[in-house]
Amino acid sequence: MSARTLPGHTAAETGATDELRVGVIGLGFAGTTHLDAFTALPGARVVALAGQEPARLAELADTRGVEHRYEDWRELVARDDLDVISIGVPNDLHHPIAMAALQGGRHVFCEKPLAVTGALAEEMVQAAREADRVLEVAYNHRRRTDVQWLRRHLDSRPFGDIYHARASWLRRTGIPGLGSWFTSKATAGGGPLIDLGSHVLDIALFLLDEPKVTSVSAVAYNHLGAAGRGGGNKVASQRLDFDFEVEDFASALCRLDNGASLQLEASWASYSKAHEDIEVDLLGAVGGARLHVDNYSTTDTLTVYSDVAGAPTISKPQLRDPGKHHQSVIAEFLTAIDAGAETPEGQPRYVGHYGEFALHRSRVVDAVYQSAAERREVEVPQ
Ligand SMILES: NC(=O)c1ccc[n+]([C@@H]2O[C@H](COP(=O)([O-])OP(=O)(O)OC[C@H]3O[C@@H](n4cnc5c(N)ncnc54)[C@H](O)[C@@H]3O)[C@@H](O)[C@H]2O)c1
Repeated sequence: MSARTLPGHTAAETGATDELRVGVIGLGFAGTTHLDAFTALPGARVVALAGQEPARLAELADTRGVEHRYEDWRELVARDDLDVISIGVPNDLHHPIAMAALQGGRHVFCEKPLAVTGALAEEMVQAAREADRVLEVAYNHRRRTDVQWLRRHLDSRPFGDIYHARASWLRRTGIPGLGSWFTSKATAGGGPLIDLGSHVLDIALFLLDEPKVTSVSAVAYNHLGAAGRGGGNKVASQRLDFDFEVEDFASALCRLDNGASLQLEASWASYSKAHEDIEVDLLGAVGGARLHVDNYSTTDTLTVYSDVAGAPTISKPQLRDPGKHHQSVIAEFLTAIDAGAETPEGQPRYVGHYGEFALHRSRVVDAVYQSAAERREVEVPQ
């Protein structure tokens, strides 16, 4: 038996050997990135693709050699020969697709955010545990070369206690597809905070060694989007008749269970930065660091602050480009599936890979929106 043909695994039932059979849902940036990453990686083969743009579906399937094509996700998930379902669709569809896939015994790779609410995300994590299948979430930016370097650097505690962090992703005019599903509360769950803020929240919590956010005090505004300004990025989904119901800017002070704090900010559109700016600052007792990705810059993104012989010192680690971070998280997903094959029968195989980290991020996002709406500090359920 191949390492990939796990007991109870669909491939084993169907007699497949080495490769995991993957179905990808979505044809936009996310779906295309998943398709290309699974295609590039050994041990997996995309055999089915679904999406609602017929010309794009045909082009992607033809150029990547994908045999089976579907307009709706339900037809793809109904296949009985898939080991993995990869979800790159509007946020409100993550939950129904993942639940159907997990309950059918498939591993799931899901785009961020895990779901539009923490309650739905919790159901997905529970379903992954019950089915004992991997539920991995595409927090790909944490797999950037610079973030990974900084995480390794932090292992020796070079900054002492880190007492405060700032994490922001700010766009000048970058509302994804003004009028698309991204701007509807029901389909997206929120605006830039759930979309971009959840990525920098993930980076910050990862660098800080996974403290829990215990409470948040937040604000959210919507001055540009509601007035039809700040539209930028295109999306594949063709409907562009959604109202603008979400924030275009949010800011939250998060208290952490280790006594530290985190200021989180996200905008799709704001009169602040020239283009698009990702920043994570760590302030420690004896040193600090700053990640600054200016308009998708690929080098010179890290600065480390310290004192050398009593003098304030700045160093700039020379790192290669950020790497294919979406492909890295999908490679980790495949590795987690493989690792489960070694687990003794009856033991949970995928602790840490049932979507638990993403669930905490979803709960923080919920608390930010509640705090902004109620104008008070809100506790994050654990
Ligand atoms: N991790 C990242 O860096 C990153 C980047 C972009 C988007 N995303 C996430 O990826 C997801 C999709 O974003 P996008 O920008 O690709 O969106 P998009 O609008 O460009 O594409 C959405 C796709 O979903 C398909 N779809 C919608 N309903 C469907 C259905 N019933 N059956 C089958 N297919 C259906 C559409 O046809 C379209 O191809 C979102 O959750 C978003 O947050 C993540």
